[in-house]
Amino acid sequence: MHKRNESVLEIRDVSKIYKTKGAFFGSSGKDVTALNRISLDIFKGEIFGLVGESGSGKTTAGRLIVGLEDVNSGEILLDGSEIVGLRGRAQKKFRRKVQMIFQDPYQSLNPQRSIYDTVSEPLKIHRIGDASTRKDLVRETLQSVGLSPPDDFLFKYPHRLSGGQRQRVAIARAMILNPEFVISDEPTSMLDASISAQIFNILLEMRNRLGVTQMFITHSLAAARYLCDRVAVIYRGNLMEVGPAEEVIRNPKHPYTQALLDAVPKFGHDRDAKRYGSLLIKDRDVDKDAGCVFFPRCAVAHEDRCGRKQPGLAQLGDGHFVACFLLEAMHEA
Ligand SMILES: Nc1ncnc2c1ncn2[C@@H]1O[C@H](COP(=O)(O)OP(=O)(O)OP(=O)(O)O)[C@@H](O)[C@H]1O
Ligand SMILES: [Mg+2]
Repeated sequence: MHKRNESVLEIRDVSKIYKTKGAFFGSSGKDVTALNRISLDIFKGEIFGLVGESGSGKTTAGRLIVGLEDVNSGEILLDGSEIVGLRGRAQKKFRRKVQMIFQDPYQSLNPQRSIYDTVSEPLKIHRIGDASTRKDLVRETLQSVGLSPPDDFLFKYPHRLSGGQRQRVAIARAMILNPEFVISDEPTSMLDASISAQIFNILLEMRNRLGVTQMFITHSLAAARYLCDRVAVIYRGNLMEVGPAEEVIRNPKHPYTQALLDAVPKFGHDRDAKRYGSLLIKDRDVDKDAGCVFFPRCAVAHEDRCGRKQPGLAQLGDGHFVACFLLEAMHEA
């Protein structure tokens, strides 16, 4: 469906470290490594899933890509141009191209502003159109996210809308500038399953009809399988496995991906269900952080090797990458 090697977004060896303040006067803070030397390519027209548990660094990745925060090291390129440090016109141009939809539609919309004000604001900021063309564009966009007829919504305020309707408004606001790349960060985790399915279908439409490249952030492999062409599994800021969604979910190679699949209710047929048992019941004691980040919890780890060094991503098959010494050893054998 999409041309494989045309990258819209390139993430090159990106790290993000948060310095936290100590709890008391004089006590020094602890550094939190939210992302550790991440590299990813996102191809034109695909929906790329970033999957991981709470605190794994997913939102941080999104915030870095849209420029809400700066990297500590590494680079992020959109259409081949570095996005870090953009100022003035170049920054404004970039902001048109990349948009983010947040998890909580109750917090991401300003309660004091009507739907029309919210959705048309980006047009004003970027000085696009006059009052009448803006109104037409807002109507058209509301219609495209299923808020129909649009005139019923234009002058309502967020408190009059349901959670699903609010998330549609947030999508409309993100879409009105015709962006090239959209990140949605757990866009349905506050919504019921049936409403989530509708939101997923809007995201699919955005890709199918408008060709918008997307990053979809989720803790759910089942959601990623439904929506995404490729996925990356991230654990404590480290990439563990990257590959075609179907392949990673049917044939997970990393013990951590397997543990994630053990944790979710099985979808599809029971005969597909496997238990991998790759998670230790009780974490292993490790005295230093030198090894694989998953080593303390990994039931199949090699005591010596996995505790001493961090594995890098190695390619197993076509576009399927895994950071695990056990697989490296199998591959070499
Ligand atoms: N502003 C901040 N200051 C300090 N630490 C932060 C900050 N933002 C995030 N972190 C830490 O960075 C790590 C990654 O956080 P992040 O929000 O990216 O995770 P996440 O995968 O989005 O989690 P969730 O699924 O709960 O949304 C966590 O340990 C978090 O506590
Ligand atoms: Mg998050």
